[in-house]
Amino acid sequence: MFFASPSQLKKAGVVGMNKRNVVMIAQNNPRHLYPLVDNKLKTKIILEKAGLAAPELLGVVKTQGNVRELEAFLADKSSFVIKPARGSGGKGILVISGKDGNAFLKPSGSKVEIRDVQRHASNTLSGLFSLGGNTDVAMIEEMVEFSDVFDGFSYQGVPDIRIIVYKGYPIMAMTRLSTKDSDGKANLHQGAVGVGIDIAAGCALKAVQFGRPVTHHPDTGKDLSIFSVPEWRSFLMLASRCYEITNLGYLGADIVLDVNKGPQVLELNARPGLAIQVANGMGLQSRIDMVEKELHHKRGPAERVDFSMGTFKNEY
Ligand SMILES: Nc1ncnc2c1ncn2[C@@H]1O[C@H](COP(=O)(O)OP(=O)(O)O)[C@@H](O)[C@H]1O
Ligand SMILES: [Mg+2]
Repeated sequence: MFFASPSQLKKAGVVGMNKRNVVMIAQNNPRHLYPLVDNKLKTKIILEKAGLAAPELLGVVKTQGNVRELEAFLADKSSFVIKPARGSGGKGILVISGKDGNAFLKPSGSKVEIRDVQRHASNTLSGLFSLGGNTDVAMIEEMVEFSDVFDGFSYQGVPDIRIIVYKGYPIMAMTRLSTKDSDGKANLHQGAVGVGIDIAAGCALKAVQFGRPVTHHPDTGKDLSIFSVPEWRSFLMLASRCYEITNLGYLGADIVLDVNKGPQVLELNARPGLAIQVANGMGLQSRIDMVEKELHHKRGPAERVDFSMGTFKNEY
């Protein structure tokens, strides 16, 4: 499976780069819908309108004038996150989790003065963190208080759950666990561990690092086979409901678990990567074909989730 030839992979229903670009993304995701998810501010607005759980938007910094206003705006806030609306790969995300006198504190404990926060926002406006260096806006949102149920499964960073939704049906899921190799970032190419998650039950199926099977987290030593997502059906419901609000036929929903508020959508992706197939040890194609046969039913999110949970059980 892992060192198979292209034709073997095709036989196993593994969707390749070319097919992803040409068929899945182009056919299912009309270009005019991209801005909805490529801009986190727009995503946030449509999520909020539909009543789907996501970290609350506290404010938007659009101008240098807004940067000056930040001091007063943030004075009474002890935790928040500033992020570029068009950022990716974790660039430009500043998490503030507490205060020490007038100074803000990062989760690592290091101090950040209001001037640093303002410089960060100003850099964001000038496009330092956005694709192609285009000017951007900085969003200020509520900090997620990550549940401790995933403690030990990640070296720094907190796991998020990626769910692939095909025409409204959740078809595959994974989590990305950061490692020393990945520098605390949840990027599989940099050495994060990918763990496939069973759609039927929310528990781990298998784990891979650098494309090879692993059983334990390389840094924390935690047994990855016991990874399991609580409130799994609510994760699937949130992901499935993202279809109606985006109209994206092929979409990746990244969902995190807040200790008080439950599952929250962190971001949506119109071009989710294909490594999820490796982490699951199977291809997307057979599941896509099965969903295609269900489309005449015109089901709502709950019925689609029921179908997926009942159908996409794991074969291992
Ligand atoms: N509201 C938030 N609260 C706490 N941590 C956050 C929040 N938003 C982002 N993060 C942290 O930053 C990481 C990347 O955030 P995300 O919104 O997915 O941006 P990117 O598009 O750069 O991946 C998350 O996995 C999480 O660790
Ligand atoms: Mg992300």
